[in-house]
Amino acid sequence: MQSLLRTPLDLPGQAAVAAAAAAAPSVFNTQPWSFSVSPAGLDVYADPGRASLPTASAERDVHLSCGAAVLNARAALARLGHGTRVSVLPDAGDPLLVARITVTDEAPDQVLGRLYGWVHLRRTNRYPFAPEPLASEVVALLRDAASREGASLRLLDREPEYQRVLSLIRAATGKEEEAVREDRAARLSPGSAPSVIPVGSLGPVPRRGGYDDPAVRDMAEGIGLPGRTCADFEPRPDLAVLETPGDDPASWVAAGQSLQRLLLTAAEHAVAASFANQPLEDADLRDAVSASAAHYGHPQMVLRIGYPLTQPPASPRRPLSEALRRDGD
Ligand SMILES: Cc1cc2nc3c(=O)[nH]c(=O)nc-3n(C[C@H](O)[C@H](O)[C@H](O)COP(=O)(O)O)c2cc1C
Repeated sequence: MQSLLRTPLDLPGQAAVAAAAAAAPSVFNTQPWSFSVSPAGLDVYADPGRASLPTASAERDVHLSCGAAVLNARAALARLGHGTRVSVLPDAGDPLLVARITVTDEAPDQVLGRLYGWVHLRRTNRYPFAPEPLASEVVALLRDAASREGASLRLLDREPEYQRVLSLIRAATGKEEEAVREDRAARLSPGSAPSVIPVGSLGPVPRRGGYDDPAVRDMAEGIGLPGRTCADFEPRPDLAVLETPGDDPASWVAAGQSLQRLLLTAAEHAVAASFANQPLEDADLRDAVSASAAHYGHPQMVLRIGYPLTQPPASPRRPLSEALRRDGD
């Protein structure tokens, strides 16, 4: 990688940037990436083998996760005072090279530099939120954060649309294949690799009232795990869909960067999110999420957003040294 810099990234800076990338959210905390860091910047590679999930969305979810890592690395570089240039999928001969982030002498993105303060504090929050709806100013900030990276955040604020997506979330949960559930059970079982989703991060089991399921996704649905309590969730969470105009690997990376920029913005405003992506993991139901007369975007994430009442524990990451590529990898 060639440096565009008079002041290249020093070793502590390289470590901070790689650690920020590794703190990104990822599908099922699989961390499907590896990094090559140098004085010139950071390359993010996809590692699909880490996220071999039996869902229709596996490839997309790997790119979304890597996109979130790219945004975190950019935020760390901005905090260190560097401008950055990002090339997404820069090498047609190496589709696993998701993005190359090169440090430049241009002015850093000040907003991203500020958002870096939330990179290691943000959590996916699967605990109940306060019942209040999001303030319209917060919605505007989140929309703006998403659109800066090329995606749009569609808040489901019209009742028929809200109910339609909610019913797709329920349908997806009901139709989940045995193989998907078994894969999840294997990943979550006590004694599996430690870097998955610990019980404390799963949040409580949503208390069911009839079949009026809350829109929080129980990642351990149908899997009996010791140590989990039940709780009532907010009756009508704000739901939103993150959409992109295209639906190819570059669009998924953009969606991941948008997702992470909006999640860091949310954290800055004491707002949290969890996800209800089950309908996007099934090809037919995903089409139905996007089928709407007014919107033609491709749905990439379904978010539940609200004011948290609990700060969940951090979900662990594998040691950074395992995510760093050595020469020759
Ligand atoms: C592409 C993608 C899909 C995800 N889907 C879901 C989901 O459907 N439900 C959920 O609760 N979390 C979902 N997550 C969140 C991850 O499980 C979470 O990022 C991971 O466990 C690490 O935890 P953290 O975000 O608290 O650091 C998703 C994350 C990504 C990037």
